[in-house]
Amino acid sequence: MSAQIIDGNAIAEKLRVETAAEVEAMTRAGLPRPGLATVLVGERKDSQSYVGMKRKRAGELGIESFGHTLPASASQEEIESLVKELNADARVNGILVQLPLPDHIDDEKVLNAISIEKDVDGFHPLNIGRLAQKGREPLFVPCTPDGVMYLIEQTGTPFKGANAVVLGRSNIVGMPAALLLVKRDATVTICHSRSKDLAGVCRQADILVAAVGRPEMVRGNWIKPGAVVIDVGTNAVPDPTAKKGYKWVGDVCFEEAKEVAGWITPVPGGVGPMTIAMLMRNTVRAAQYAAKKLA
Ligand code: GUN
Repeated sequence: MSAQIIDGNAIAEKLRVETAAEVEAMTRAGLPRPGLATVLVGERKDSQSYVGMKRKRAGELGIESFGHTLPASASQEEIESLVKELNADARVNGILVQLPLPDHIDDEKVLNAISIEKDVDGFHPLNIGRLAQKGREPLFVPCTPDGVMYLIEQTGTPFKGANAVVLGRSNIVGMPAALLLVKRDATVTICHSRSKDLAGVCRQADILVAAVGRPEMVRGNWIKPGAVVIDVGTNAVPDPTAKKGYKWVGDVCFEEAKEVAGWITPVPGGVGPMTIAMLMRNTVRAAQYAAKKLA
């Protein structure tokens, strides 16, 4: 094996310790605890579990969490009016509307209703627009791509002039990851389901970010020797030897890729833990921002 493993669990833990220290410094200074409101619409098991983990982590770091659940039948107006209430609530510094929303809901309108100062997910069209523009800075950037960038930084790999390939163009991961890489002066190629010669394009990548949701699609011979490989995929695949009957694999065939890459994230234990760590950091930043505005 040649690749060094990027340990997302350890890196996220270091971030959480820093974030908890910031919360403590705020409360010592007599400031209110940062507050995170979560909005869960419907009964998707995966969304329930993600929101549960976010609330649990918030509690561990001393962040107040306010959980709101609405039925899958909730109307556009009900969701938007809840968001507006949370915008006006001074105890709430960050608002997280768990995606995806039910099919009858226009998620762009919901995200647009969130105050950009409380947009700790970084999904507000204005924050995304600023991310896409030269010389402009968003207040917050989406947590998973922010975590991806943080992990790449830990390897010491320079971004400037690097060939970066992003597999996937989703609003939550692929596109914002590509925009963040451009902001750091990488030369970025975005690949998607219609791209030709994926293997050939990937072989040019000094930095490869895979976020397509296809189990082990990226093979070892797609990887440039020494590349940084960040695997955002979390795919459940049947495994009769596992108690649960399945195991988690990434979008990259880890066993092959680790023989070629310079650095690689495992699945699980790579990008996954970073998303919530970044959300907590963003919530504390939102609270610090709010406190400064009041001072
Ligand atoms: N659904 C999948 N990932 C995310 C995320 O990072 N934030 C929210 N709000 N919903 C998601």
